[in-house]
Amino acid sequence: MNYAEAEKTLKGCGQEHVLAFWKKLSKDERSSLLAQIAKIEPRSLKLCRDALAKGAAAPDSSAGKAPKVATLKGKKLAEAVAAGEKEIAAGRVAALLVAGGQGSRLGYDGPKGCYPIGPATDAPLFYFHARKILARGNRYGATIPFYVMTSEANNAATVKCFEDNGYFGLDPKNVFFFTQGMWPGMTKDGRIILDAPGHIFMSPDGHGGLLAALKRSGALADMKKRGVKSVFFFQVDNPLVEIADPAFIGYHVLEKSEYSLKLCAKRDPFEKVGIPMLFGDRCRMVEYTEMTDAQCTRKGRDGRLYFLYGSPAIHVFDRAFLEREASKDMPLHLAFKKIPTVDAKGRVEKPVEPNGYKFEKFIFDILPNAKRTAFLAFDQKDEFSPVKNADGTDSPATCKADMQAKWTKWLAEAGVTVKKGVTIEIDPAYALDAADIKRIGLCLGAD
Ligand code: UTP
Repeated sequence: MNYAEAEKTLKGCGQEHVLAFWKKLSKDERSSLLAQIAKIEPRSLKLCRDALAKGAAAPDSSAGKAPKVATLKGKKLAEAVAAGEKEIAAGRVAALLVAGGQGSRLGYDGPKGCYPIGPATDAPLFYFHARKILARGNRYGATIPFYVMTSEANNAATVKCFEDNGYFGLDPKNVFFFTQGMWPGMTKDGRIILDAPGHIFMSPDGHGGLLAALKRSGALADMKKRGVKSVFFFQVDNPLVEIADPAFIGYHVLEKSEYSLKLCAKRDPFEKVGIPMLFGDRCRMVEYTEMTDAQCTRKGRDGRLYFLYGSPAIHVFDRAFLEREASKDMPLHLAFKKIPTVDAKGRVEKPVEPNGYKFEKFIFDILPNAKRTAFLAFDQKDEFSPVKNADGTDSPATCKADMQAKWTKWLAEAGVTVKKGVTIEIDPAYALDAADIKRIGLCLGAD
């Protein structure tokens, strides 16, 4: 793109001010600004402006009902596990990780997936995910292709982390990195924000950017070529997640679901998690900020919370459903933030109050479009302990403690007692669950 083309594009959408400092820019600044402008689609700007005009008002959730959530036991559990194992063994399952976030609460300098979480080895979050995928595939003699969404800001460092660690044992040809989109920040009146005279402020388009990125990158086509049908979705910050858990995959398949969610009981009525609610025959994720106190504390007939189950963002998608959704526009969510900007003379200003909007898409906004959904309960302690904050709740300290508690439980089931204060860590490729430990324990005993 040259200057004339950039000017034409910007004029067409009322954003000519982006070139206001052109004459003052160096050669490099000019070419990087032109590269940024070339990536902006006028259609996306229109979507941003429409979102600004609509405002941040949340839809009314007062008519929402709690969906039926399965807790699988006995025969039903065995059936689901068998169906899931068949799906994995047939090579119809993929793992899909969203790792493009900025991790601002954790304040770690690098992709969050590189954060050292191994209690004994400082192994990164990516290690635990990749080793589980490796072990799960090996167990069923199948390949589980691994799709990793990054952002422009962390893609190179993410790929390097995999390369430096020999892909954690995975075959690189089964790991597919792709990058999510970026949206420009805007003022209240829809003007693109420059955070330097020759630079547009851009931010990642949210985990919902996944759909467009899957399509654009060829990841969806790759899944199809490989014969993938069920796509296990998870977030980078939860090393407890049971990736491609056969019971969940199997339940999804048996229910012929397009979008299945693993749900866990809220730790307290006001826990900050999304709550899936039914509106007629469709389901929608209601954010905790949209719920009234009365909804949060409402009791069901069994005396427990009526909206008991929250979503820790562990999903299984039908691949064909993702394909259908990938061509549609998703709603944009607004975040009013302090965004660096430039004054009329091109001097950079750091605002003390929020001054502009970031735009994000959320993956769960496609939930109402699913013709069939399925909900499966799990025990939070076993599978969900995210690293969100530097300290306090949902921090590395709580996560490491939860990892150790889980492994201690597995070892106890195999008759091994872990002394208090001893640090333990289990490589998922060595043991994926308590049953593996028991098997290994028996082998050791036989020696
Ligand atoms: P969070 O909402 O926790 O955001 O992301 P974050 O960026 O990791 O952390 P904060 O809010 O800045 O502290 C949940 C999951 O969604 C991914 C994250 O990488 C994480 O796995 N995500 C989030 C993306 O992939 N892209 C985004 O634009 C946002």
